[in-house]
Amino acid sequence: MVSILGISAFYHDSAACLVIDGEIVAAAQEERFTRLKHDHHFPVHAARYCLSEANLTARELDYVGFYDKPLLKFDRLLETYLDYSPSGFKSFLKSMPLWMSEKLWMPDLIRTELAKADGEEDERQAKKNGKKFEWKLLFGDHHESHAASAFYPSPFDEAAILTIDGVGEWATSSIGTGKGNELTLLQELRYPNSVGLLYSAFTYYTGFKVNSGEYKVMGLAPYGEPKYVEKIKDNLLEMRDDGSIKLNQDYFSYSQGLRMTNGTFDKLFDGPPRQGESQITQREMDLARSIQVITEEVMLKMARYVYRETGMKHLCLAGGVALNCVANGRVLKEVPFESIWIQPAAGDAGGSLGVALAIWHRYLAKPRATNGCDAMKGSYLGPRDSEAEIEQFLRENNLEYTKCSREQLPGVVAELLASEKVVGLHQGRMEFGPRALGCRSIIGDARSPKMQSVMNLKIKYRESFRPFAPSVLREHVSEWFELDADSPYMLLVADVAPDKRMAVDTELTGLDKLKLQRSQIPAVTHVDYSARIQTVSRETNPLYWDIIEAFRKLTGCPVIVNTSFNVRGEPIVCTPADGYRCFMNTEMDYLVLENFVLSKDSHKKAQKAQNDS
Ligand SMILES: [Fe+2]
Repeated sequence: MVSILGISAFYHDSAACLVIDGEIVAAAQEERFTRLKHDHHFPVHAARYCLSEANLTARELDYVGFYDKPLLKFDRLLETYLDYSPSGFKSFLKSMPLWMSEKLWMPDLIRTELAKADGEEDERQAKKNGKKFEWKLLFGDHHESHAASAFYPSPFDEAAILTIDGVGEWATSSIGTGKGNELTLLQELRYPNSVGLLYSAFTYYTGFKVNSGEYKVMGLAPYGEPKYVEKIKDNLLEMRDDGSIKLNQDYFSYSQGLRMTNGTFDKLFDGPPRQGESQITQREMDLARSIQVITEEVMLKMARYVYRETGMKHLCLAGGVALNCVANGRVLKEVPFESIWIQPAAGDAGGSLGVALAIWHRYLAKPRATNGCDAMKGSYLGPRDSEAEIEQFLRENNLEYTKCSREQLPGVVAELLASEKVVGLHQGRMEFGPRALGCRSIIGDARSPKMQSVMNLKIKYRESFRPFAPSVLREHVSEWFELDADSPYMLLVADVAPDKRMAVDTELTGLDKLKLQRSQIPAVTHVDYSARIQTVSRETNPLYWDIIEAFRKLTGCPVIVNTSFNVRGEPIVCTPADGYRCFMNTEMDYLVLENFVLSKDSHKKAQKAQNDS
C-alpha cells in the first residue's frame, strides 16, 4: 500500500488530500474545520481528518507532496520587488519575515505541523517518543499541480489541458496534454501577465474582496453593458490570437504593493475604487460586464489555441479562473472540443489533490485507467457523521426532532420544498471545493417567485443581485436548460430552455431587472436567462437525487434551488453542530441532518421556554 498526502497552504484556501494506491480517499479545505474563511494556515485539521479516513497516522505515510515550489516563488517575489523598488520596498519588508522564517524552511515546518496532526507537540517531541517521520517530501510545480488536478481525475484517457489562475511561481496560465499517466506542459504565460490578476484588479476596483469576490463580479456582469471593453483593450492589455495577454503595468500595482490598481487606473475609469459596503452603481455593473466580456474572449482564444495545437478531442480545466462558469459554458458551446471536464476544486485547494496524484502517476509512474467516469466521487470527499453520532448530538443538546426512514425522507423533504419552506440539507460526505452539491446545501423551490429574495436576505444575508444555482436531475437537464451534458460540479452556465421562459419588459436597467419573473423557475434564472447548473445523478448522490425526483413527482418540476449551507462571510458548514448553529441563526424553516428532521417553529418555542424558565 502506498499512501500520499497532498498539501496546499500559505497563500489562499489551504487543503489536504489523501491518495492511497492511486485512489482519492479524502480531501478537505482547512477553513471548514477552523471556521476561518479561506484559511491559509498549514492544514493541520484537514490533514488529520484525511488521515483518519484511512486510520493512518502521519508517521505511517509514504509520501507528502506540497503543491508548489516555495523557492521559485521566493525568486519571483524577490525579482519583482527589486524591479519595482523603491516603491515596492514597504510591502517587500512586510512579506519578507514570513518567507524567511517559514516558507524557506518548509521541510522542517511540514514535519512539525504533521507531528501536530498526529497529536504530537512537535517533531522534537515525536522523536523523543521514539517516533520517526520516514515519508519522503516532494514539491510540485504550481501549474503542474493544477494540471494534474485537471487531468488525472478526469474521465478521459487523453486530453488537452488548460490551467489559468492569478499566479503560481512564475506561470499564470499553462497549456499541455495528458495521455495515460503522462502529463506534459507545453507552454506557459508568465507573471506579471495574468488573466486571473486582471480579473482580480477589477474585483478590487468594483469594491469586492480579491480572491473571493470574483464570483460577485461575474454575477453582477449581466446587469451592466460592455461599455469599457474598448477602453480596456486600448489601454490595459494587448491580446494575441493564442489568448496570451500582455498587461500594461502602468495601470496596476500588484507587483509593488497590496493594492491591485493605481492612480492611473483610477484616472482612466474616472474615479477611485468603490468602497466595500457602499452602493453598487451602474458604473460597477458596466465595469463587471466589460471585464467578463474580455475574460471570455481570452479564455475562448486560449481554448481554441489549445485545440489547434494539441488536436485533442477533450479539454481539462483548472486554476482559479476555471471557476468562471460563464466563460466555461461558452468554451463548451463555441470551441470544437467534444467535451470538457473542470476540476471542482479548481482553485489552489485542488493543488493538494493534483500534487498527490502527480506523485502517484508521474513520480512513481503508476498506470492510470479510466472507465469513462471521473475519479472525484462527486467531490464528496469530506467528513460525514454517522446516524448514531447525530442522534447523540441531538440528545445531548435536548433538541426536538423527527426521525424518518430513508424511504420516507425524500417525500417529506419534497413536501416541505413544495410549500415554499427553506431547508438546510446536511447529509453524506462534505464537498471538496467551493461549491455545495447537495450534502451541505440550503435548498428551496425553484418555481417560487419570492425564493430568491427570501434566501438572499433572510438566510444568506448578502447582496440581492446574486442569482442562485439550480440542481436538476441529469435525466431532465435538456428539457429545462440549453444543455445536454454533465455538469456535476456546478461549473457550467447555460440558458433556461426557451419554452420555460417568460416574456419581460426589456426597458428596465440595472438592478430593476431583478424584479421581473423571467421563467417558470424564477429563483434560479439570472437576468440574462442564464443559470449555473448542477446536474444530479443517482449514482453519485442517491439521497439528493431521490429528493429532487420526489419533488418532480409532486410538482412536475425536476429543478430545485441549491445554495451553499453557510451565511455570508462564513465557510460552508462541516459538522452537524455547525449546521444547527447556522439553522438557528437564520430564518431557515427546516434542518435535515441525515434522517433527522428539525423544524424551526418547535425549536424557537423550546428556546423561548428555556429562556423563560
Ligand atoms: Fe493557483
